[in-house]
Amino acid sequence: MIREIDVNELDQVLKIDRLVLGTNWEDHHYHTEIFNEDSIFLIDVCSNVVRGFILILVLGLDAEILQIATHPDYQKKGLASRLFGTSVEILQDVGVEYLFLEVRESNSCAIEFYRKKGFIQTGVRKNYYGLNRHANLMRKRLSYDCISD
Ligand SMILES: CC(C)(COP(=O)(O)OP(=O)(O)OC[C@H]1O[C@@H](n2cnc3c(N)ncnc32)[C@H](O)[C@@H]1OP(=O)(O)O)[C@@H](O)C(=O)NCCC(=O)NCCS
Repeated sequence: MIREIDVNELDQVLKIDRLVLGTNWEDHHYHTEIFNEDSIFLIDVCSNVVRGFILILVLGLDAEILQIATHPDYQKKGLASRLFGTSVEILQDVGVEYLFLEVRESNSCAIEFYRKKGFIQTGVRKNYYGLNRHANLMRKRLSYDCISD
């Protein structure tokens, strides 16, 4: 089931972060986003086990994917696709036109995932994650996929 996260489930999100994202986000960073009315923070949960999550910040007509991750035990089963699809429906409902993200240039799995979801690369941010660790900037147009980019 995909639904908004509850604050009691943050520990599971942090565990997934540590396993597959390795960000420097602490509990309080995620905690803040739960109560941020401009954030969309969804989890995939089954029998009280959080299997994946997505966190998106809405900035008017734009939005940015801050985090998306699936627990290693559940990857490649369409879970992130469902989280992403539900998020896109919400974003379209509130009139967001463009969805942006940064992804490590070396993260081929995530880049493939985003390409499959219709993102295009718009640039590279050099040394974004540290020396010689560059970020690919990607963008997807949401406002009706029939309009060409
Ligand atoms: C990227 C990630 C969220 C995908 O989650 P997932 O639940 O496994 O994704 P899905 O099963 O919905 O995959 C959808 C598509 O993404 C692509 N994809 C997913 N994992 C992939 C992999 N390991 N290698 C290549 N392509 C992959 C495939 O095109 C896949 O479609 P297919 O199953 O028809 O081949 C997951 O690999 C993850 O948590 N990675 C670590 C965290 C991360 O890097 N997040 C992004 C930070 S910017």
